[in-house]
Amino acid sequence: MTGHIPKAEIHCHIEGAASTALVRSQAEKYGVDVDHIIDGARFKWVDFSSFLGAYDIAAALFRTEEDYALLSQTYLESIAAEGAIYSEVFISPDHARIAGLSPEAYVNGLGEGIRRANSSHGIEGRLIVTCVRHFDAEAAIDVARFAAARPHPTITGFGMGGDERIGSHADFVRAFDIARDAGLGITTHAGELAGPESVRDALEHVRPSRIGHGVRSIEDPALVEHLANEGIVLEVCPGSNVSLSVFKGFDDHPLTALRDAGVKVTLNSDDPPYFGTSLGAEYAIAQDAFGLSDEELRETTRTALEAAFVDEETRAGLLAKL
Ligand code: ADE
Ligand code: ZN
Repeated sequence: MTGHIPKAEIHCHIEGAASTALVRSQAEKYGVDVDHIIDGARFKWVDFSSFLGAYDIAAALFRTEEDYALLSQTYLESIAAEGAIYSEVFISPDHARIAGLSPEAYVNGLGEGIRRANSSHGIEGRLIVTCVRHFDAEAAIDVARFAAARPHPTITGFGMGGDERIGSHADFVRAFDIARDAGLGITTHAGELAGPESVRDALEHVRPSRIGHGVRSIEDPALVEHLANEGIVLEVCPGSNVSLSVFKGFDDHPLTALRDAGVKVTLNSDDPPYFGTSLGAEYAIAQDAFGLSDEELRETTRTALEAAFVDEETRAGLLAKL
């Protein structure tokens, strides 16, 4: 049981956090059939590409500022009920644009949901603007410029998700430079679907302080040592990794080996309803499958708060809750 442990997450995609019930109600609102992507309480997908396909269809059902306020509010309240005190969510202005919403209305809606969840449940939330790797690199520059202008006070970071099997971080140097120069925290997905060379590619070209996943670094002991020495924080998502068959099961998952090698790891849910998980479930997996004690789970929360893209006063207040 981990209900009493204060939890913090730094890797969750807001579009991927919409429950099947919320997606269904949005589909009814807009008269769209979603039977091909939802079966009861589960999203239907069979591999990474079809997962991304279902994700895009669900995301296109959030079309107004209020739709996004409802999404971030309901998501943050759901994890606050599991003991979460902090959540940093990845947001994608490209998905909003495809749904017909301006990036300004998108972040205003998400920010309003964060405000509501904070006043109802005390949870803190921040937004990491992401570009999408399998969209084009020019679009990423526009997204970075938008984030760099700080259109909402809850925007504190910049990152990249999408299909890691395509292209290189070298194509996104300009976008990441714009975001870094504006003082945003930097993270990026690597070492999930691709191996250690992809993590090295990310470190070389965009110099992140954190890596989304990064778990396949375990295939390269020199890289693991480098991550430990440099204090690069991994945003580990065990349920997602097993669901997407990055590892066969939790027995094969490298979380414990990475921790033992001195790498800083955090626990995260990625796209929770797609992978049948939640932040609370990830902490339970860490306890039941990886044998972390209550104290070690608290340490994991501490690592997430120390790595969070948040102002020092808020960080100190959150750390005091541990
Ligand atoms: N976008 C949403 N979920 C993702 C994941 N697990 N990897 C890369 N991009 C994503
Ligand atoms: Zn992710």
